[in-house]
Amino acid sequence: MSISTIAQNSESSKGVSLIAAHSHITGLGLEEGKLQPRESSQGMVGQVKARKAAAVVLELIKQGRIAGRAVLLAGPPSTGKTAIAMGISQSLGSDVPFTSLAASEVFSLELSKTEALTQAFRRSIGVRIKEETEIIEGEVVEIQIDRSLTGGHKQGKLTIKTTDMETIYELGTKMIDSLSREKVTAGDVISLDKASGKITKLGRSYSRSRDYDAMGPDTKFVQCPDGELQRRREIVHTVSLHEIDVINSRTQGFLALFSGDTGEIRSEVRDQINTKVGEWKEEGKAEIIPGVLFIDEVHMLDIECFSFINRALEDELAPIVIMATNRGVSQTRGTNYKSPHGLPVDLLDRVIIISTSPYSADEIKQILSIRAQEEEVELSADALAILTRVGQETSLRYSSNLITVANLVAAKRKSSVVDVEDIKRAYSLFLDSERSVQYLSENVNYYVNEAGAATLSEGDKVIKGTEDKMDLS
Ligand SMILES: Nc1ncnc2c1ncn2[C@@H]1O[C@H](COP(=O)(O)OP(=O)(O)O)[C@@H](O)[C@H]1O
Ligand SMILES: [Mg+2]
Repeated sequence: MSISTIAQNSESSKGVSLIAAHSHITGLGLEEGKLQPRESSQGMVGQVKARKAAAVVLELIKQGRIAGRAVLLAGPPSTGKTAIAMGISQSLGSDVPFTSLAASEVFSLELSKTEALTQAFRRSIGVRIKEETEIIEGEVVEIQIDRSLTGGHKQGKLTIKTTDMETIYELGTKMIDSLSREKVTAGDVISLDKASGKITKLGRSYSRSRDYDAMGPDTKFVQCPDGELQRRREIVHTVSLHEIDVINSRTQGFLALFSGDTGEIRSEVRDQINTKVGEWKEEGKAEIIPGVLFIDEVHMLDIECFSFINRALEDELAPIVIMATNRGVSQTRGTNYKSPHGLPVDLLDRVIIISTSPYSADEIKQILSIRAQEEEVELSADALAILTRVGQETSLRYSSNLITVANLVAAKRKSSVVDVEDIKRAYSLFLDSERSVQYLSENVNYYVNEAGAATLSEGDKVIKGTEDKMDLS
């Protein structure tokens, strides 16, 4: 296993970390260099106490002083628990892995619970790999390509210079193809990676600026580099332990990374990788970056999962585990005990608890207006006001989801501004949970019940439509 195969074959671990509903959040929104949250900053509004606590946690994480512990975000639905976890991860920097797992995902037919958790843990640990490559950087003087008469085989020469020197390189077929793909011509300043053959156009040399008219206004002009043509450059990739596992698991191969269909990974593979990564670390080739594993709806886990987490937190290679729950005192699954947040007491003992509380109308309004901006939807003042009321009476998430729908409704009547009528329409099209429960209780016979039976028709009676609970006029 070589470092560069891993680096080349793995997707970047920051890849899909942005969950759409939280795309407006870019950090915890703290005062510069302090632990104090601003009232509204980096997409975050209100929830100041919880954000301040999160800022302290963030600081502990940065100082590496939180090993073996976990954070529990506890609060009612839609009070920003996931948002705060996102905020922490954003503040840690873009190459710190953030993995989000809904506790129910652990229960699947393909993977055992512990395998699913192990994979999630290892996805959340980054390995920052340093690699040296040789690059050639200079201004192209001339490209000469000789095509053989039969077509296939190509040969060529590239003359390239810096302000101090000039050299001619022989070109192979692969390099000729990349030069023509990048449309490199004399006067371009390029960077050429010797190992991979990758060519990057850096711009046009200033010495060619008199060709301006022929180049068009988009051309970027750069200085011809000075010094040596060949340089060594250090490049850094961050991949997760899980990605390394998958690439090296002979039964899977790296294609499994794209399908996500990784199956169980043998523990010998993981042991070998831990040893190897340990060696790289010793040799200064790699650095371990504990990322964040966010486990949402953690009360859905059972006692076996909690024991696993308890043990995994003790491991040398542990990520920062942030859990969220909206349960109060409830039963721990798989036991007969009741405990706060449904967490077993030994785990509860390890966690730092941050609690979130419901938002004021004004805060809801601000968050909704940030969401509208993020989705590039223009809301009229009245529409925002009514959406805020919907948010207060249902949930922030529900009202935030209405923005997209209302925008489609507005587009249908060819308006670029979402107005009250569009919100009303969206509200009546899609139920919030409370109206859905009401609808179910009124039409219970028409649904498949626990015995597997349902009434399909009952004389001429039609299924009752829902009535809008709130009077939005
Ligand atoms: N303080 C906040 N500032 C900005 N947006 C927020 C805040 N709290 C919640 N949101 C947004 O509101 C929606 C619901 O919040 P979420 O974090 O999913 O709630 P929870 O995880 O507590 O159920 C999300 O789109 C989230 O990004
Ligand atoms: Mg959530």
